[in-house]
Amino acid sequence: MGREMRVKKTAAGQPASPAAPLAGYAEYLRDAGVMEIWGPESFRWAGMKQRGEAYPGLGDVHTLDALRDFIGDCKRCKLCNGRTNIVFGAGNPDAKLVFVGEGPGRDEDIKGEPFVGRAGQLLTDIIEKGMKLERSGVYIANVVKCRPPENRNPEEGEIAACEPFLKKQLQLIAPKFICTLGKFATQTLLKTKEPISLLRGNWREYEGIRLIPTFHPAYLLRNPGDKKLVWADVQKLMAEYNGED
Ligand code: URA
Repeated sequence: MGREMRVKKTAAGQPASPAAPLAGYAEYLRDAGVMEIWGPESFRWAGMKQRGEAYPGLGDVHTLDALRDFIGDCKRCKLCNGRTNIVFGAGNPDAKLVFVGEGPGRDEDIKGEPFVGRAGQLLTDIIEKGMKLERSGVYIANVVKCRPPENRNPEEGEIAACEPFLKKQLQLIAPKFICTLGKFATQTLLKTKEPISLLRGNWREYEGIRLIPTFHPAYLLRNPGDKKLVWADVQKLMAEYNGED
């Protein structure tokens, strides 16, 4: 006999949250062998592949400009309280290569553009001097699009609220390659908790796109001795990039 559906309850016997019955149902379906389902976030909490729209109407967005309009004056997480500008992303909408960072810092928040501070200058050097590409020829995005206060790490809920927009950007650009910069971009896209020190430099796949993780440029500013590791990762990436037509 199958197990009963469990719903997380408060001490007073009420569902722990409005989504608790749905999450309980999702766990019940998962344990019954259902692998993938159309549905909202609660299904994802149960570890199921989610096929539904994260936000109603997002499935009808077909260009980056339309996606920026869809995001609007976003209030979907608390990072909206401290931001000056939403940092949507910048670059070539048909880029063959997309870099994904963590989230805007102070300079990016002020300018509304990704990677324009000190870490940004280092990324630009990696792209232009190291890879011999134009910065405007690639696309640069972040996991969260608003600056976390005092540049703290983005929280899980903030990442979850913003991730559908990153996924949509990647779907619309459909690059051949993704280079994730640091722990948050890498772990978010690869759905892993493995440390960046082990993930970096190893080819992986994200939704059929080849992905290579490397260290974040801000980490390199603090640990310049590891620049040689990023250089090795970048060479690995360029060997494949240049081998593509
Ligand atoms: N660090 C990031 O991860 N992203 C930016 O846009 C700037 C700094």
